[in-house]
Amino acid sequence: MHVKLAADGGVPPVAELSFETNPYLKPIKDTHLLNLRPILEVADKHEFGVLAANCIRPEITRGVLRAAFDLNSPVIIQVAESQLSYAINGWFSGSKFDLLNSFSEFVAKEVERLWEEKGYLVPVALHLDHLQSDEELAFAALRAGFTSVELDFSKHPPEVDRGEAVKLNIERCVKLIPELHKHGVTVEVEEGEIGEAAVRAAQSEEAIRKEFTKPEHAVELIEGTNADAIAVFVGSAHGWYLRRPVIGYDALRRIDVAIRERGYFAPLVLHGGTGLSYEAVHKAIGAGARKFNYATALADIFLRTLERDPSGKGAELIQKMTETEKQESEAKGRKPRGARYVLGKFAEEINKLGHSVLQAAEDAVYEHVRDIITNAYGSKDKAPLYGSQFGRCPLE
Ligand code: 13P
Repeated sequence: MHVKLAADGGVPPVAELSFETNPYLKPIKDTHLLNLRPILEVADKHEFGVLAANCIRPEITRGVLRAAFDLNSPVIIQVAESQLSYAINGWFSGSKFDLLNSFSEFVAKEVERLWEEKGYLVPVALHLDHLQSDEELAFAALRAGFTSVELDFSKHPPEVDRGEAVKLNIERCVKLIPELHKHGVTVEVEEGEIGEAAVRAAQSEEAIRKEFTKPEHAVELIEGTNADAIAVFVGSAHGWYLRRPVIGYDALRRIDVAIRERGYFAPLVLHGGTGLSYEAVHKAIGAGARKFNYATALADIFLRTLERDPSGKGAELIQKMTETEKQESEAKGRKPRGARYVLGKFAEEINKLGHSVLQAAEDAVYEHVRDIITNAYGSKDKAPLYGSQFGRCPLE
């Protein structure tokens, strides 16, 4: 599989990621994090999935990384644009760049600490998920040492038809990708808005299928952008599924085949990992999906563990958070979304719950991630496939 120049020669393929091409990378001893390309190339060659975990608390990040190290598995750590302003803003402070930069430093330090502790390194990428509004954030992520960015310009007004939407999507992407690619930062694009599972639950199966990404649109987006991965809509959606999702495995396969037939390497990304069964993930891997986004379940495991704090203080706090969010949502005329959406605002109070409950929350995330890496994605023990610098020595 080779990378072609975009049809008009406009967008260059991603450069090799190194300290020479990218002075913004956070050093981890003498090396740095990977971008999506090697992470997904190996996953593609050996047909497994890679967890892309949205990490909106230090305990979630630590739990995910510790599980990846202990299971000798690659992993993608990510945070979405929207999460900066409801979660990361309470963890760190300052401008959006400061938030990204502090997050990136935290991840690099944690990876280095685990490397020291375990005696080996695993492949890790750092990705900005769902950049939808503030285009400058792509460059802020680059300068903060992120190794990958999702440019999600899939949303379009109802009067714009899908073919036109792809063209508008390309127009926005090509303004940003050359600078990212020059510095070895990979780009995920998105065709077909993923949307919320709760909203999708009100749609008929037929209406959902009609919105599936078409192979020709996915190919056109890749051709026009030279992107390195593509998120597509085939029925998965964000948040807990209120009814069993209709996942278009055949649609997924057709998109994958169409992209490969045109000579591009741009693996498929499946958003909306929360609530998908192991079987659904296995079938999606079989149809070509390689990166699996996972967010809601991790945040909920964190919150539910606080709620079980034996002192009762955790439950009280979650109740207060839920109530605050409800009032905020009602004031804005929208449905309440839950305590997760005020995580940043209550960060200090959460931290005051103390070490043992926070450690329990990290451990709960760790156990869950161990489970999905092993049973859903199949990336356990795949780290050594990334080269001799990665993975646990088999003789140990
Ligand atoms: P879930 O919250 O449903 O796991 O979806 C995550 C996601 O797709 C983030 O981009």
